[in-house]
Amino acid sequence: PVASVRALATSLTPTDHIPTRYIRPEAESEAIIIPGSDDDDIPVIDYLKLLDPELSDAESSKLHLACENWGFFQLINHDVPKEVSQRMMFVIEEFFKLSLDEKMQFKQPPGQVQGYGQWFVFSEEQKLDWADMLFYHISPPHFKRMELWPSKPSAFRDAFDEYTTEVNRLANCLLGFMAKNLGLDPSEIIGNSENETQSVRINCYPPCPEAKKVLGLSPHSDACSLTLVLQVNDVTGLQIRRNDKWLPIKPIPGAFVANMGDALEVISNGKYKSIEHRAVTNTEKERFSIAAFHGPNFNATVGPHPELVLKGEPLYKSMDFQSFIKLFLASKLDGKKFMDDIKL
Ligand code: SIN
Ligand code: FE2
Repeated sequence: PVASVRALATSLTPTDHIPTRYIRPEAESEAIIIPGSDDDDIPVIDYLKLLDPELSDAESSKLHLACENWGFFQLINHDVPKEVSQRMMFVIEEFFKLSLDEKMQFKQPPGQVQGYGQWFVFSEEQKLDWADMLFYHISPPHFKRMELWPSKPSAFRDAFDEYTTEVNRLANCLLGFMAKNLGLDPSEIIGNSENETQSVRINCYPPCPEAKKVLGLSPHSDACSLTLVLQVNDVTGLQIRRNDKWLPIKPIPGAFVANMGDALEVISNGKYKSIEHRAVTNTEKERFSIAAFHGPNFNATVGPHPELVLKGEPLYKSMDFQSFIKLFLASKLDGKKFMDDIKL
């Protein structure tokens, strides 16, 4: 097990060197796009316009282009109440402020990912991310491990339930528009509404005295269909792979960053792209993000939809979503290696 990065960060002075396990030469060597210079910023989709009968078609076409050409967009004017997101942010910040001993009561059991800890620590030699996290399965309900849900602050569980319910509803609505844009029935990408999967990951990126040399979160793509990320405190940190460079995503206050996951790339037979992304840290401000992942039901088959391969060839293997996730986890979040493994 790895010590808490937050505890490590608070023990360091600004002139201290950090342990070598966190030093990532690629963090400094790979090119970063200065936003507004050689590329555009990611598309912004207006949810109110999507729902407006007069404006929906135009906004939906914009959504389609965002899914095809970017794999990422920011969603403004959505209907997740501000108070719901604020309560969620509040309990998260309060939880991470607890003493390490208190937090460790909810630590990940050995070999498991749910609870408080880090993502994918599998060897002594491995480079480590400069972040702590909380990870939970929300749906299907029998995957919930309530004993790993913090009981402090006392509003934690209610805030989580409320937030994940709201975000799930929004994600399904967006997936409905995407299905329509792909010429599919929404049920074909959303699945049976009772058994679809949802999980949530809270990332806590403490400030780092050598911020430029570390990564908060290693490059990866998400396995699910659609991820909705809330960037708390509006601190920049998320970067997406664009033309072999990294493009920083500047948070729009209150907006969600939405991205397609591998399952949607597969179902759409490559039409919609699941784009690699990573998170960087800074020397001064702690950053939190809340990523909610939405995918089909575990028994559903994830494979190129026949309607979308008529003229071409299927690009990926088909398998049930549970096997898909197993393979994804086995590739240890190594960029897009997993997608290469399932290409036909
Ligand atoms: C993620 O990819 O899970 C979140 C990235 C971020 O911290 O913005
Ligand atoms: Fe991600």
